[in-house]
Amino acid sequence: MGLQNPLCFFLPILCVMLLNQPSNGASTAAYTTARPYSARMADSIILRGQAILESQNDSSLLLQVGVFQTALLDLIESPSGHYMEQNWETYISRSTDSVVGVVDNATQDTNLPLDRLSVGSGLFYLYGKTGTSIYKNTLAALRTSIDLQPRNMFGGLWYYVYPNWSYLDGMFSLLSFYPLYTSHLDIGNMTEVNNDLFHQIELLWEHCYDETTGLLVHGYDATKTASWANPTTGASPIVWDRALGWFMMGLVDLLELTLMDSRVATWRSRFVDLANAIIQAVDPTSGCWWQVMSAPGRSGNYIEASGSAMFTYTLYKGVRLGLLQDTNLQANYTSVAARAYRSLVDRFVVENRDGTLSYNGTVSVCSLNSSANYEYYVTQPLAYDSVLGSAAFVRASIEYELQHGTLYK
Ligand SMILES: *[C@@H]1O[C@H](CO)[C@@H](O)[C@H](O)[C@H]1NC(C)=O
Ligand SMILES: *[C@@H]1O[C@H](CO)[C@@H](O)[C@H](O)[C@H]1NC(C)=O
Ligand SMILES: *[C@@H]1O[C@H](CO)[C@@H](O)[C@H](O)[C@H]1NC(C)=O
Ligand SMILES: *[C@@H]1O[C@H](CO)[C@@H](O)[C@H](O)[C@H]1NC(C)=O
Ligand SMILES: *[C@@H]1O[C@H](CO)[C@@H](O)[C@H](O)[C@H]1NC(C)=O
Ligand SMILES: *[C@@H]1O[C@H](CO)[C@@H](O)[C@H](O)[C@H]1NC(C)=O
Ligand SMILES: *[C@@H]1O[C@H](CO)[C@@H](O)[C@H](O)[C@H]1NC(C)=O
Repeated sequence: MGLQNPLCFFLPILCVMLLNQPSNGASTAAYTTARPYSARMADSIILRGQAILESQNDSSLLLQVGVFQTALLDLIESPSGHYMEQNWETYISRSTDSVVGVVDNATQDTNLPLDRLSVGSGLFYLYGKTGTSIYKNTLAALRTSIDLQPRNMFGGLWYYVYPNWSYLDGMFSLLSFYPLYTSHLDIGNMTEVNNDLFHQIELLWEHCYDETTGLLVHGYDATKTASWANPTTGASPIVWDRALGWFMMGLVDLLELTLMDSRVATWRSRFVDLANAIIQAVDPTSGCWWQVMSAPGRSGNYIEASGSAMFTYTLYKGVRLGLLQDTNLQANYTSVAARAYRSLVDRFVVENRDGTLSYNGTVSVCSLNSSANYEYYVTQPLAYDSVLGSAAFVRASIEYELQHGTLYK
C-alpha cells in the first residue's frame, strides 16, 4: 500500500504532517516512523556502526565505506536528506578517518582491490570542507596507486592481485575517483586521464560482452589461461548481477558529469543498450533480477538484493538524466524501476522493533579466484545487512523518492 504524493517532494515536512495527522497527539512518533526509506536505511546503517574500519586489517570493508559515503552525499543533496536523524557529517568524518591510515601509501594500495578508490568520496568531501593536508595527501596516494597498479597486455588494470585479470566490479570505484581527482587536483592531465578511463571500460566491453544476453560477464583474463577463461576472449562464463550493477552505477554516475570527450556519445549509446538488456532480463514474477543473470529461473538461482537495487538506481537515474526515454510499455524504464523498487521493499527490507531497517538477500562475495561456474555463484552465502546491498538500496530509494515522492507502507 504505497502512497505517492508530489507534495512530498516539494514540501516534505508539511507532507508528513498532513499525511500523518496524529489522532492522539503523538506527533513525534508519527514523524519518525513516516520518514522515507532512504533516510531510514541510512540512519540504520549508521546506528549499526557499519562501514567504518576498526583496524588496518579491515581493508575488505573499503568498498562498503565508499559506497555508503556516496549514498550519504547523494542523500544530503536530495529532499529526502531532511529526514535523516543521525549525524551524517560526523559519520563521514569518522569513516574517512578510519580509512586514511589504510590507504595513504600508494605502493601498499596496489595490494588492495581497485575498490579502495571508492573512499575518495569522503576524502574529497572532507578536504573541500577542511582543507586539511592529510586528506589531500591520501587522495594523492590513491591517485598515484592507479599509476602503480599492474596492468595486463592491453593496458587493462588488474582488479586485484590476480595477474592480468580485469573485472567489472572495480569500475564503480575507478569511475567515481578518477574524474573527481583530476578535475579538482590535476586538471592539466584531463585528456590523459580520460584516455585511460575510457580505455578501461572499452576493454571490458570488448572482452566481457555476452552476445546471448547483451549484458557483460563478470571479468576476463587477458592471457586466457584461467580455468574459466573463454578461449577467444578470456571472458569468465557468468553474468553476475552485482558485478554488472557496479559497472552500471559507475557508468551512469560518469555520464552525469560534463566530460568534453568524443567517446561520451558511444558510451551513452552503450548505456542505453545495456539498460535495454537489463530490462529484458528482469524476472517477470518478482520484478527484480537474478543472481546469475545469464541463467534466469535455473534451479538454485535466486533474486539477489544488491544487484537489483543497483539496477533500480541506474534505471531511475538514467531516465532523470535524459539518457533513457520512456517510450511505451515495451520500453518503459520507469515502470520497470518502480516495480523493482516496490519488490525490493517487500522482499528485502525488514522492519526491526527498534524502528531501524535491515536489508536481506545480498550475496556476500563472488570471486573469479574460484571455479567461476554456475554452481559457485549460486552457493555463496547471503550476508544479512550487507552494506553493499543496503547502501545501494539507499541510492535506489533516493531516486524513487525524487520521482514519485515518499513510499509509505
Ligand atoms: C589486525 O591489525 C592489528 C594492527 O592494526 C594487529 O595487531 C592484529 O594482529 C591484526 N589482527 C588480525 C586478525 O590479523
Ligand atoms: C610505503 O610502503 C612501502 C612498501 O611497504 C615502503 O617502502 C615506503 O617507505 C612507504 N612509503 C611511505 C611514504 O611511507
Ligand atoms: C601477464 O601478462 C603478461 C603480459 O602482459 C605476461 O608477461 C605474464 O606472464 C602474465 N602473467 C601471468 C601470470 O600469466
Ligand atoms: C597523467 O595521467 C596519466 C594516465 O593515468 C599518468 O600516467 C600520468 O602519470 C599522469 N601525469 C601526472 C602529472 O600525474
Ligand atoms: C511509464 O511508466 C510510468 C510508471 O508506470 C508511467 O507513469 C508512464 O506514463 C509510462 N510512460 C509511457 C511513455 O508509457
Ligand atoms: C532473509 O532471507 C532468507 C532467505 O530468503 C530468509 O530465510 C530469512 O527468513 C530472511 N530474514 C529475515 C529477517 O527476513
Ligand atoms: C585464491 O584461491 C585460493 C584457493 O582457494 C586460495 O588459497 C587463495 O588464498 C585465494 N587468493 C586470495 C588472494 O584470496
